[in-house]
Amino acid sequence: MSGLEVNKILASIILAILVVTIISNLGDIIIDIDKDEIETAYKIDIPESGEFKPSTNIEEGALEPISLILANSSLDKGQKIFKKCSACHTYVKEGANKVGPNLWNLVDSPKANVEGYAYSKELAKFGGKWSYEELSQFLYKPKEYIKGTKMNFSGLKKAQDRANLILFLREQSDNPIPLP
Ligand code: HEC
Repeated sequence: MSGLEVNKILASIILAILVVTIISNLGDIIIDIDKDEIETAYKIDIPESGEFKPSTNIEEGALEPISLILANSSLDKGQKIFKKCSACHTYVKEGANKVGPNLWNLVDSPKANVEGYAYSKELAKFGGKWSYEELSQFLYKPKEYIKGTKMNFSGLKKAQDRANLILFLREQSDNPIPLP
């Protein structure tokens, strides 16, 4: 065999190895890129308040976002709806805890944050803040949203009722957070 032929054989072996390596890695490279894209799109799609809570029965996205209708809601109507809550809650600053905790400065505050109120352990451990959306989900079906809560209230089924009420609760603060 001449030196040239040996070279040719070696060259084709190297080429073959190269091609096989590239092809087998190509799959990984493409899949890697896809994974990145999927993760990014997923992160952008999820609203900030939408952390998944394992202890809830209400699926994320099951309710229409309350933030879309808050701007078209009525404080007066919200105050009237609060009558459904007033047997158990006050909303004024330094108001008393009744069957349920005082609700002054509720929106955007940490859950189970009222001093001197004995929460159920389910609510005490639930975590997170009362964002607009979480309040809406809780008020839709309290016992579904926080399994084991001791709030005995069946819930407000109409989104507009919840929006009016949440708009009203938002006002009960020295420094209401901005509307979404
Ligand atoms: C029958 C009494 C009762 C009624 C009516 C009621 N609640 Fe409650 N609420 C409670 C109790 C009790 C708790 C404490 C729940 C726990 O610890 O699990 C609570 C807790 C809450 C919390 C959590 C507060 C925090 O500090 O984290 C919010 C918000 C709330 N209620 C809003 C309302 C609103 C708004 C209404 C009216 C639509 C309402 N509740 C009607 C008894 C009631």
